[in-house]
Amino acid sequence: MPTEVDTGRVVADIVTASMSSPSCVLGLATGSSPLTAYRELARRHRHEGLSFAGVRAFLLDEYVGLPPDHPESYAQVIRREFVDHVDLDPAQVHVPDGAADDVLAEARRYDEAIAAAGPVTVQILGIGVNGHLGFNEPGSSLASRTRIKTLTAETRRDNARFFGGVEDDVPHHVITQGLATIGQAQHLVLAASGGHKAAAIAAAVEGPVSSSCPASVFQLHPHVTVVVDEEAAADLQRADYYRYVATHKLPQQGY
Ligand code: GLP
Repeated sequence: MPTEVDTGRVVADIVTASMSSPSCVLGLATGSSPLTAYRELARRHRHEGLSFAGVRAFLLDEYVGLPPDHPESYAQVIRREFVDHVDLDPAQVHVPDGAADDVLAEARRYDEAIAAAGPVTVQILGIGVNGHLGFNEPGSSLASRTRIKTLTAETRRDNARFFGGVEDDVPHHVITQGLATIGQAQHLVLAASGGHKAAAIAAAVEGPVSSSCPASVFQLHPHVTVVVDEEAAADLQRADYYRYVATHKLPQQGY
């Protein structure tokens, strides 16, 4: 895709198509990568009658220890960036409770809730510059379930931009869906843009399957769509082939 806006449109197309299923369960992600898709979905809701009525949604992850009304808790971020702009029932948008007294039990409960409601029809994903998915930092088991993770110094530095640039304010711990939990979704759709994501995208798509790049778990999943702009695609060895594939799809192939 030439630009970030194009990547958002493609992700929105995939989500829109998935909503024709009556039992649609959306997997939502925070971070900046899905924002253009959320804006496009909100536009389709306002102007084209796209409705999220009856859709259930599960968020990937949440910080541990932030009060639920903290503006940077992922519960608030997803409400502000997406849920408030469409007709998704907020009671059907599930987020792990990072302020629970027993966060270990909360992580288990959340994993079970996804399994009971699922499978997730489409899981929207971003990728960390270190290849993390959700908050599954490098070294995460490819078989992991929803659990507590400790953030790397790099991720806390990256995310300080959401906390007024104050790294000390970024929590050390999170509840994140595990890589195996994420992998149970029927279709994984990853959006990335910008040159700072190029190395992570190349490692995820073309590198060895390894917990050193958690997103490389994609290679074991039957249906993954990676939607990147030119900068994020810059390190892909087979980019010419992927472009050729994209422009020569059979109509019935879809994304
Ligand atoms: C965050 C989130 C991920 C997100 C990633 C990249 O820490 N937990 O879900 O994909 O980092 O963020 P961004 O899209 O802002 O680059």
